[in-house]
Amino acid sequence: MKRYAHIIGWGKYAPENVLTNDDLSRMVDTSDEWIRTRTGIQTRHIVGEGETTATMGLRAAQAALEVANVTPDQIDLIIVATASPDYPTPATACLVQDALGATRAGAFDLAAGCSGFVYGLSVASGLIEAGTYDTILVIGAETISHAIDWSDRGTCVLFGDGAGAVVLQASESPGGVLASVMGADGSGAELLYVPAGGCRRPTSADTVAQGLHFLRMEGRPVFRFAVNIMPRASRLVCERAGLSLDDIELFIPHQANERIIQASARALKIPAERMFTNLERYGNTSAASIPIALCEAVEAGLIRRGDHLVLVGFGAGLTWAAAAVQWSMPWPVPTRPWWRTTLRWLYYRWASLRSWTLRTLRRMDTQIRKPFSHDAENGDQQPHKEDSTK
Ligand code: ACO
Repeated sequence: MKRYAHIIGWGKYAPENVLTNDDLSRMVDTSDEWIRTRTGIQTRHIVGEGETTATMGLRAAQAALEVANVTPDQIDLIIVATASPDYPTPATACLVQDALGATRAGAFDLAAGCSGFVYGLSVASGLIEAGTYDTILVIGAETISHAIDWSDRGTCVLFGDGAGAVVLQASESPGGVLASVMGADGSGAELLYVPAGGCRRPTSADTVAQGLHFLRMEGRPVFRFAVNIMPRASRLVCERAGLSLDDIELFIPHQANERIIQASARALKIPAERMFTNLERYGNTSAASIPIALCEAVEAGLIRRGDHLVLVGFGAGLTWAAAAVQWSMPWPVPTRPWWRTTLRWLYYRWASLRSWTLRTLRRMDTQIRKPFSHDAENGDQQPHKEDSTK
């Protein structure tokens, strides 16, 4: 029996702190008028104290699981698409897995810039269709604000922080993710990159002094790339799904720049209203932008059961990706019985207690083993000698 990957839950999170264009105009030589007319952005959210990519991803994931009526122990795999992980290693997905208490799930991060969420959707739907997994959580989460040079007006006005998530589940009913495309052109890697902090240029006092740990971007070539690739990827994914552009009720494009979205609509010869936008309130949240936009479009009642959508993004890499989706969930979603919500809440409390206990036990274990490792360093192999007498 053929399997289909349906989106059965969705959720988003944006930090409370809001940074306006006027705030930015007090920080760098820019103006509300320039930012609005060149990008369409009016405000963006910026993380507060203690907020990270993992904590925002967790909040979005919990909201998505609530809609999906799925408990964390049902998740087989967690994919976090991000360009701003909590640590260079381990994966932010592992932190989300631990905080959710998703004890059965594998977890990995996916780095494909702003296209990351659609890449994740494509990988997840493939694994579901192949029968490898039944339930996958795909998160797009970013704390881009920490990689921004707040004195560079060319980039600091564009980006914002946030997270969005979906739950994908296997079903035998046709629909869900119908087709996807992923593409890359690494010859454009240096058009949008963080020069230092990787093995090519490890972090040093010198790289920090030169600000090489900040995001660098050549805006114009990225713009040209975007207006070319967004329509191409949209057409290609429709073709693969056996749909025409007229079959698509709503496009959810990556929210980078209103002019890119409008130019894509013109190239596709579709009315601007069929391109969903919310970038005026979020700015470019990179891999989080498409799932946040998807949530807002659903919650605004713009997507009905049976509708066809195209999710399409581009980003650092350079990368691009698109997915054609047939929506299968009602809106509003039926209210869950109170005890299911309470059960989930209790599960999260248990998950944080479990995490704390495991971390404490690991610390204690390390403390207990320390004297042995000291002895071993001094040439005393006693623990091994004991072993050999067995
Ligand atoms: N305020 C005022 N003036 C500015 C600002 C600013 N914030 N930024 C640039 N300018 C100036 C420039 O210095 C330039 O001045 P000059 O003519 O005296 O040299 C002038 O405005 C025009 O600059 P351009 O770069 O040509 O402006 P453009 O219209 O191309 O808009 C922008 C710049 C918004 C960055 C645009 O190129 C763009 O959106 N590019 C795509 C960026 C993008 O989508 N990036 C995300 C990729 S996804 C990911 O993976 C993260």
